[in-house]
Amino acid sequence: MDAINLFLYLFLSVFTFYLVRGMAVAHLRRRKNRLPPGTLGLPFIGETLQLISAYKTENPEPFIDDRVSKYGNIFTTHVFGEPTVFSADPETNRFILQNEGRLFESSYPGSIQNLLGRYSLLLMRGTLHKRMHSLTMSFANSSILKDHLLADIDRLVRLNLDSWTGRVFLMDEAKKITFNLTVKQLMSFDPCEWTENLMKEYMLVIEGFFSIPLPIFSSTYRKAIQARTKVAEALGLVVRDRRKEREGGERKNDMLESLFEGDGAAGVEGGGFSDEEIVDFILALLVAGYETTSTIMTLAVKFLTETPHALSQLKEEHEEIRLRKGEVESLQWEDYKSMPFTQCVVNETLRIANIISGVFRRAMTDINIKGYTIPKGWKVFASFRAVHLDHEHFKDARTFDPWRWQNSAGPTSSPNVFTPFGGGPRRCPGYELARVELSVFLHHLVTRFSWVPAEADKLIFFPTTRMQKRYPINVQHRSLFDQREEENGL
Ligand code: HEM
Ligand SMILES: *[C@@H]1O[C@H](CO)[C@@H](O)[C@H](O)[C@H]1NC(C)=O
Ligand SMILES: *[C@@H]1O[C@H](CO)[C@@H](O)[C@H](O)[C@H]1NC(C)=O
Ligand SMILES: *[C@@H]1O[C@H](CO)[C@@H](O)[C@H](O)[C@H]1NC(C)=O
Repeated sequence: MDAINLFLYLFLSVFTFYLVRGMAVAHLRRRKNRLPPGTLGLPFIGETLQLISAYKTENPEPFIDDRVSKYGNIFTTHVFGEPTVFSADPETNRFILQNEGRLFESSYPGSIQNLLGRYSLLLMRGTLHKRMHSLTMSFANSSILKDHLLADIDRLVRLNLDSWTGRVFLMDEAKKITFNLTVKQLMSFDPCEWTENLMKEYMLVIEGFFSIPLPIFSSTYRKAIQARTKVAEALGLVVRDRRKEREGGERKNDMLESLFEGDGAAGVEGGGFSDEEIVDFILALLVAGYETTSTIMTLAVKFLTETPHALSQLKEEHEEIRLRKGEVESLQWEDYKSMPFTQCVVNETLRIANIISGVFRRAMTDINIKGYTIPKGWKVFASFRAVHLDHEHFKDARTFDPWRWQNSAGPTSSPNVFTPFGGGPRRCPGYELARVELSVFLHHLVTRFSWVPAEADKLIFFPTTRMQKRYPINVQHRSLFDQREEENGL
């Protein structure tokens, strides 16, 4: 045997040895653990880059579609630095959501935890979480909405629309509306210079949430942390002032008041929360409701603009309400309850836009599901988006079709497939609030304005679902009450 042949022989046998061993190990591991099939991609970055580049386009679906067709509805991937089991299966998603705190727990990167603060609802666990989740629900439940939030929403939406002329960036206006509304609801503050300054700092905090992949190196993240300190200080001052007012016997009807009255993080009856706890808690509510609600407002308008038939049916519904009430009377709960087509538009927008495309959880123990094992400590992503856009569950799933919700049998024959607000113990406590805000916004928008897109814009999905150019539109006032105004083209 000459040297070359010897080398080749050695090389091949070593190579074969490793190949066979590798296959055997993989086989054994799969037999023992039966990980869901899939690929982990490159070391460390895994398939993160593929995911990000897909979600930066208008059509991210192939990322999921390709993997689902290769591996099935549950597959393994590797994103944001960790192996992750990805579920596009409604039953599995439900199992994950319902078993929060028992088999799975929510999990956020450290950079996000720093921005949120320890006492935010999103980071709470166990009994404290349970107590605070129901406190939050009782602040935004339908009877509170009916009795006083609706009036504020109506007033603040009108006030904001009053300033619209010519070219308007819809996303920016929607953000102003939701920010002002939330500040009002949480702390009874009407829009003023103080809220405006707070909003500027607050926007820096929000940007920090989307510098995820490498926060330590990002100046956006550093600025966000600084801005968080400022926002927390400003909120801290409000909390202190309110404590003083309370000592003088003054009571307000808002979230802050219920936190003063609550049992506190330590669970002492009537013990109340500390200033730090209150500030963290309020800040997290502001974060959770802000980007989501303003995006859904913007996207509803975008889909309606692109579906003129739906827009005209929506207009009819709202014109009827407005003509009945006259120009200035504010919306009442009965009016909100008499917008059936609007509710179809709301659901369809939530379904197809998927503001929160799914949720991350961590397996607290080895979990067997659908013949696979998810190893303890692994990340799991329950994708709502994949289910909402699956043709098996919704006919023509990728088309905006509000009429599907009018079907008396419902939009789908599969159970548990529509979860825009999540489910289980962490189900969004703002779900009804968001629906009312969107409905009231649409009411005033379509009865007071007509509009056309000011330029072509694109819907993208990374780092968040949003319109790339903030959806600029050209608006024109219209009045249902003064015909002459309309004829003059005002
Ligand atoms: C269209 C608007 C909204 C959407 C699509 C949405 C969606 C969601 C989803 C999917 C979750 C579950 C997260 C998880 O399971 O980890 C969630 C949680 C949450 N949402 Fe919303 N949300 C919206 C509006 C709001 C509003 C207006 C508020 C204000 C009160 C709010 C407050 C929260 C809070 C505090 C949580 C955390 C709950 C917990 O961890 O216990 N959301 N939201
Ligand atoms: C809503 O919350 C309030 C307390 O804030 C409570 O009294 C009321 O019963 C709740 N209503 C519903 C429909 O859950
Ligand atoms: C809401 O907030 C923005 C920014 O803070 C401000 O410019 C606006 O005037 C406020 N009021 C309304 C009703 O939008
Ligand atoms: C919209 O979806 C909710 C579930 O989140 C459902 O209860 C409601 O009936 C739906 N509305 C319409 C008009 O189908």
